[in-house]
Amino acid sequence: MLLIPFYALAFVVPVLTASSKAQQHLASDALSTIIANGAPILGVDTGCPRTSKTCDWMRKYPDSTKLVHMNLPGTHDSATWNYTQETQDSLFRYTGTAIPPADIYQCQDKSLFDMLNLGIRVFDLRFAYNPGNDTLGFHHNVALLSPTTTVEDVWFGFYQWLDEHPTEAVLISLNYESGTGTPRDLKLEQHIYDIMTSRLASRYWVQTNGSLGTLGEARGKLTFLQRFTYNFLPATESKRIGIQLSPSAWTDNSPAIEIVYNNSTNQIAFIEDYYEIGLPVGSGYAENIQWKFNATTAHIENATKHNPEQLYISFASAEHDSDSPPETPKIMALGNGTDTPGVNQKLLPWLKERKGQRFGIIMLDFFDSVPGLIEAVIGL
Ligand SMILES: *[C@@H]1O[C@H](CO)[C@@H](O)[C@H](O)[C@H]1NC(C)=O
Ligand SMILES: *[C@@H]1O[C@H](CO)[C@@H](O)[C@H](O)[C@H]1NC(C)=O
Ligand SMILES: *[C@@H]1O[C@H](CO)[C@@H](O)[C@H](O)[C@H]1NC(C)=O
Ligand SMILES: *[C@@H]1O[C@H](CO)[C@@H](O)[C@H](O)[C@H]1NC(C)=O
Ligand SMILES: *[C@@H]1O[C@H](CO)[C@@H](O)[C@H](O)[C@H]1NC(C)=O
Ligand SMILES: *[C@@H]1O[C@H](CO)[C@@H](O)[C@H](O)[C@H]1NC(C)=O
Ligand SMILES: *[C@@H]1O[C@H](CO)[C@@H](O)[C@H](O)[C@H]1NC(C)=O
Ligand SMILES: *[C@@H]1O[C@H](CO)[C@@H](O)[C@H](O)[C@H]1NC(C)=O
Repeated sequence: MLLIPFYALAFVVPVLTASSKAQQHLASDALSTIIANGAPILGVDTGCPRTSKTCDWMRKYPDSTKLVHMNLPGTHDSATWNYTQETQDSLFRYTGTAIPPADIYQCQDKSLFDMLNLGIRVFDLRFAYNPGNDTLGFHHNVALLSPTTTVEDVWFGFYQWLDEHPTEAVLISLNYESGTGTPRDLKLEQHIYDIMTSRLASRYWVQTNGSLGTLGEARGKLTFLQRFTYNFLPATESKRIGIQLSPSAWTDNSPAIEIVYNNSTNQIAFIEDYYEIGLPVGSGYAENIQWKFNATTAHIENATKHNPEQLYISFASAEHDSDSPPETPKIMALGNGTDTPGVNQKLLPWLKERKGQRFGIIMLDFFDSVPGLIEAVIGL
């Protein structure tokens, strides 16, 4: 046993403290810089709103609760919250002016930090190269969401929030966005792989693969839903975490998708992602909204009745931009005035009537415009 004389301790301790304080200053300054660079996607963390009952809502659930048994409110195309026409105009030098108007791409109006503080626990993010084909950033199809924010910045934002909310578990679904005109190459895949397998990531991401465990195992961490495959990365780079929802198995625009994400345990994700409503032109807001509401509730209804051990993901989000007048994501979610309620208004009473049942994950657009919707999804 090593004995350290008392006088030596008295000398060493203050020195260590001073140097570790300096380290803390450096670390906190570096973190602030990263979070500020992430602000176009993360927003600014203003803490739990005083009126929010859902800021740390998972605290009340036991550790043993299985994630597949939970009702998790999520946001579709989460990173589009600040993609207004003003933002699109400011990015014309990267995208050119010949792109459709911003309201076709904007699906949210609360920042990622606001979403977290309001109780959203599943995020749908799509990455590709930022301008310059060097760093990785966020897009929605041809809409570039920020030219400077990187995936790393945004992950740091989630890590910081989780450190402050250690009872909460957050799921991140990540797609590769192929419609951006930027290259897809080995360098891009190596970069995202390195991010996901770094030492820091191993601390903040649930490290199991091919299975979803309990809330207790997922608290204070991110759980990965990988919606892309590696096409160029050598097979030797094979450290996988989370669950694989392969894009080739994710049937486009389908009201009922089944993806086996683990063959040996027969784990299946049941997904409704009917987003482009196929009605004839001129069908109108009400008809388009009714079709989407039908598809969404049919799927959630199944989540309440079938396969209690499997994952259910229902997208309440949709658009029909080729209609005349077009149904933007906002019109689909929120309707048009009081005479045409949107999917969100219609979902609220439907979910409340089924309070206590398993809904699974419900992905929403403009979730905050209908008060009580988050509580109704969770079943509070
Ligand atoms: C949101 O967009 C506006 C308009 O483009 C911009 O001025 C503002 O800085 C953006 N907000 C953040 C947090 O980046
Ligand atoms: C990025 O990639 C695109 C598509 O391959 C190419 O047109 C563009 O010149 C590249 N930009 C840079 C800065 O390399
Ligand atoms: C399938 O699930 C089992 C049990 O959770 C796990 O040990 C295994 O690694 C998973 N297989 C794959 C291919 O992900
Ligand atoms: C899945 O995880 C297990 C243990 O956590 C590991 O042994 C295995 O290599 C992983 N599978 C892949 C494909 O990375
Ligand atoms: C499960 O098996 C099928 C058929 O062999 C295969 O195509 C699929 O990739 C496998 N899924 C996983 C997650 O390993
Ligand atoms: C929606 O579903 C209900 C009940 O299943 C059915 O009566 C109605 O015709 C459907 N409406 C549309 C627009 O699909
Ligand atoms: C609901 O479950 C039934 C029975 O498994 C299935 O036939 C049907 O296709 C499912 N519908 C949806 C929308 O998932
Ligand atoms: C509602 O629809 C009418 C007719 O299409 C349109 O003139 C009006 O601007 C819409 N109102 C809102 C709030 O979207």
